[in-house]
Amino acid sequence: MFTANVYKERRDALRRQMGDGIILLLGNAEASSNYPANTYHFRQDSSFLYFFGINHPGFAGVVDIESGEEILFGNDFTMDDIIWMGPQPSVATQATEVGIEKSAPLAQLKTVVENAMRQGRKVHFIPPYRYANKVWLEELTGIRVAELAAHVSVELIKAIVALRSVKSALEIEEIERACDIGYEMHTTAMRMCKPGVKEQLIAGTIEGIALAHGAGVSFPSILSMNGETLHNHYHGNLLQEGRMMLTDAGAETNMNYCSDFTRTVPVGGRFSQQQKEVYNIVVAAHDCAIDHARPGNTWKEVHIEVCRTLTRGLKDIGLMKGDVDEAVAAGAHALFMPHGLGHMMGLDVHDMEDLGQIYVGYDDEIRPSDQFGLASLRMGRRLQEGFVITDEPGIYFIPALIDQWRAEGMHSDFLCYDAIEKYKNFGGIRLEDDVLITATGSRFLGQKRIPLYVDEIEEIMNK
Ligand code: GLY
Ligand code: MN
Ligand code: MN
Repeated sequence: MFTANVYKERRDALRRQMGDGIILLLGNAEASSNYPANTYHFRQDSSFLYFFGINHPGFAGVVDIESGEEILFGNDFTMDDIIWMGPQPSVATQATEVGIEKSAPLAQLKTVVENAMRQGRKVHFIPPYRYANKVWLEELTGIRVAELAAHVSVELIKAIVALRSVKSALEIEEIERACDIGYEMHTTAMRMCKPGVKEQLIAGTIEGIALAHGAGVSFPSILSMNGETLHNHYHGNLLQEGRMMLTDAGAETNMNYCSDFTRTVPVGGRFSQQQKEVYNIVVAAHDCAIDHARPGNTWKEVHIEVCRTLTRGLKDIGLMKGDVDEAVAAGAHALFMPHGLGHMMGLDVHDMEDLGQIYVGYDDEIRPSDQFGLASLRMGRRLQEGFVITDEPGIYFIPALIDQWRAEGMHSDFLCYDAIEKYKNFGGIRLEDDVLITATGSRFLGQKRIPLYVDEIEEIMNK
């Protein structure tokens, strides 16, 4: 936990951005897996964590925008709780630790919310994503679960996005800690990547590293020889010589700040000529993003520049043809990269995605696109110092998509389908790093950069 002042200042800053009413932030509860008492690993809600700092289930916080009164709601442990789960500081003590003077049992939250509503005051809440909190919000506000989405506070969402988008020095330190764990995870995966090894053994080993050094993985690891499936969580294959293994994995620190890295390496440690050619196009795209990542540029422009780099490279190896700018404008390259260049990262690996991508990645100036590929860009906004984003270009050969586009004659002015046909067994390559936007440009996060270039990868894999 940071010092009480950090949380106090965050809440004060939030209040300054808001007009009137009360802010209601619900923490998460334990969630049952296969029977009530067997729960999933607990994960606190990130906005609750950001403003109230308490990493235990069963809390909620209220801030009165006009009076400034802040109340932490939670129930003190009973003797039964202490017997089974150990002692916990009182709710009053926990409130003090995050700079709050007033605390109350959870049952009193309903009265506070009802009083505000009776006085005609706005109760600001953010979109709930867990069913338990939807039901809790319905109980508190009387708004039916199905109607909650229409009543979320856009004002509160925008205020939270404004604050959480710009990372403080303390937060950057935490994210770098998560990146250092990511370094251990990825270099371990590289060393283990040999023919005959089961993907699951590597996935389990690196998830163990995340748990041994922090709060675990920041999302379920993607690790597969079939990297063309973007979020491939199946780890049942034995690695085969001649294929590549894509690992997209990251960690959370004990304070729940995240990392998110992807590397793609040749099984056995040596790239074939064909693999090297495609790999180096993705490297060029990745470097291109870093060259353009600076305050003032939009991440959407950077995405498009990266797509041009990919298209140039794919032309060089005979998979695309025609004018590069026209091909990208038409969206032809999206056959190979059907996703966006990256996303915000912080307390969530896709930071604040629960608040709505339209508010996190877009604004009045930069609007989302509905073009296939570009439509999947989670973050398009103009970059500011303190943003943390991922740079994650890729090239994938997705047989079903190739077949469909070919049958429909899609973008046949730009795509060399006969040549592409020969890559249908290739798989996919993605390279991902976490990037801090600085005053003048950007820098990678983490003490050491995970090997990226062909010679670096071959060196670590053959040591
Ligand atoms: N970890 C999924 C992604 O890179 O967005
Ligand atoms: Mn990733
Ligand atoms: Mn990512």
